[in-house]
Amino acid sequence: MDSKNDEKLITSYFEQIKNYLYGFVKDRELAKDLAQDVFLKALGKVRKDASKNEVKSFLYTIARNHALNFLAQQKHTLDVEKQDLQTETTEKADELKDKVYKILENLPPNYKKVLELKDFENYSYKDISVNLGISEAALTSLLNRARKEFKKQFLMSVAPKWAVAVSQENKNQELLEKIHPFAPQENFWNYLNQKTIDYFSSIYDRWDDIKDEFLKKEVISNLLEALELQGNEKILDIGCGVGKFVCEFPIFDYFCGIDLNLGLLKKAGNQTKNVDFVCGEMERLPIRSNSFDLLFCNLALHHAKNPQETLKEFERVLVKGGKLIILDFVKHKNPDFWERMRNIWLGFSPEELIKELKKIGMGNFSSFVNEKNNNYPEIFWIVANKK
Ligand SMILES: C[S@@+](CC[C@H](N)C(=O)[O-])C[C@H]1O[C@@H](n2cnc3c(N)ncnc32)[C@H](O)[C@@H]1O
Repeated sequence: MDSKNDEKLITSYFEQIKNYLYGFVKDRELAKDLAQDVFLKALGKVRKDASKNEVKSFLYTIARNHALNFLAQQKHTLDVEKQDLQTETTEKADELKDKVYKILENLPPNYKKVLELKDFENYSYKDISVNLGISEAALTSLLNRARKEFKKQFLMSVAPKWAVAVSQENKNQELLEKIHPFAPQENFWNYLNQKTIDYFSSIYDRWDDIKDEFLKKEVISNLLEALELQGNEKILDIGCGVGKFVCEFPIFDYFCGIDLNLGLLKKAGNQTKNVDFVCGEMERLPIRSNSFDLLFCNLALHHAKNPQETLKEFERVLVKGGKLIILDFVKHKNPDFWERMRNIWLGFSPEELIKELKKIGMGNFSSFVNEKNNNYPEIFWIVANKK
């Protein structure tokens, strides 16, 4: 929808929505501000051929949800704000501020201005519209476009590679929606974690079938054969899901599976006393340094928020001479697959990964890339030793 249509939508329904919201919050100014939010959410989503009734029902649904969310959030806001202040380190906050300012500087001047006035200074819609000399309807439409552009730029700046894929393909609007200007980045990563958790919780019982579509069983058995295991190794499995990988090893000294999804780990259950399943994130492993002989990361590195830092964590927990084994997708350009699998990264180039591993002191590489299987990205594995 263009800005003229946006303004028409706002002028036609603003009063009705505002009055409806007043019924929830009993405060005229607040109802007006919430109504602006409702239109921000609705702009661009109304079908061109929608009937008046459909438009109304769409707007009322958003308004109702928004009012209920607002009332629920109000209860928690004070506590959360207090917590955020305590946990956010100044270093992180400064880094985030720098990023935000840089993005603002590069936006068109009218976008920059409106974001500063609304999201930084928190002026009312009325004051801003007077200041900019535009109607409140035009302001809502402008703010909508400015926030959208900001979100896109922000996404590019936090995860450049996949953001490019997202924005080029105009995919994953939901992700873009989550990036609120000036929201701490940490919340965004938490959101991504939650998405991954929800996805694997919903498909864990079908995961083996899904995996069979792109990963042949022989790839794993050939890999394990190539490792020439002795049976006395301490093995760490990162992103272990429901913990089935342990069954691939007839004997071992100790096996530990790590996953961020507690629900899946509960399904892995208690096995023998030399097997543990631990809830944790690969980016900061809850594991002592120099303690494992083998570290497997099967189809999980593409979920790492920061693969470089995660590789350093892997190196840290391996004993000297220990082996790191990464199995993952070769970098691909298939955003549909990326979106379906709830990945963060579009796979990795094995050569680039080896370069990164060299930088952190790993050596003695062997690798394998399997042939393309249907329309799925190719799979590779790399084995590297900690020097
Ligand atoms: C694609 S599944 C792979 C499961 C198993 N390794 C396999 O090959 O069948 C990815 C797993 O990584 C886990 N995961 C995603 N992000 C993670 C993170 N940051 N730290 C630890 N585990 C993570 C998910 O919960 C999920 O169980």
